[in-house]
Amino acid sequence: MNDDIQKVLYSEQKIQDTCAELGKTLTTDYQDKQPLVICVLKGAVPFTADLIKRMNIYMDVDFIDVSSYKGGISSTGEVELVKDIDTDVSGRDVLFIDDIIDTGNTLEYLKDLLKNRGAKSIKICTLMDKPEARKVDAIKADYVGFDVPNEFLVGYGLDYQGKYRNLPYVGILKPEVYQR
Ligand code: PRP
Ligand code: MN
Ligand code: MG
Repeated sequence: MNDDIQKVLYSEQKIQDTCAELGKTLTTDYQDKQPLVICVLKGAVPFTADLIKRMNIYMDVDFIDVSSYKGGISSTGEVELVKDIDTDVSGRDVLFIDDIIDTGNTLEYLKDLLKNRGAKSIKICTLMDKPEARKVDAIKADYVGFDVPNEFLVGYGLDYQGKYRNLPYVGILKPEVYQR
């Protein structure tokens, strides 16, 4: 699997250092809040697992899954709920964790959903932000690990046709992999 990668953009060490840094900031910001941390399946699984271990606070953790219809190369903007959280969010401080924000459609949908259910505050933590790909300008992450170039990335949660999520780093695929 490693042989399919052309270039490593963010090494395992660099990602772990970033998790430690973000975890420290979040520990301070959520000290007395006991946030509801929501992992956006499936891409945010590795990041969530590493990040929450660096947050020295009481928290609840839940999972949500949505699918967005990406017709061709660009997103249609339609998002559908696939798996809901089990937790009541009214009056809660919610922190969404995702691996990457591209168009912003996923997080726009999720923010609206929980706002309507009465969440007290909603913030977003993403490992990667791709500002050049944004279509929903209002969506901005509150906590960002890396601003990334507008390239197709895989690893550490990011997939190509469901694969490569388990790479411990983020990299660029060799073009020949797409041509297979
Ligand atoms: C990817 C990624 C983000 C979302 C970002 O998830 O993990 O959740 O797309 O794109 P957007 O800002 O344009 O909405 P995807 O929908 O591919 O599902 P996955 O996490 O299960 O791979
Ligand atoms: Mn995702
Ligand atoms: Mg995906």
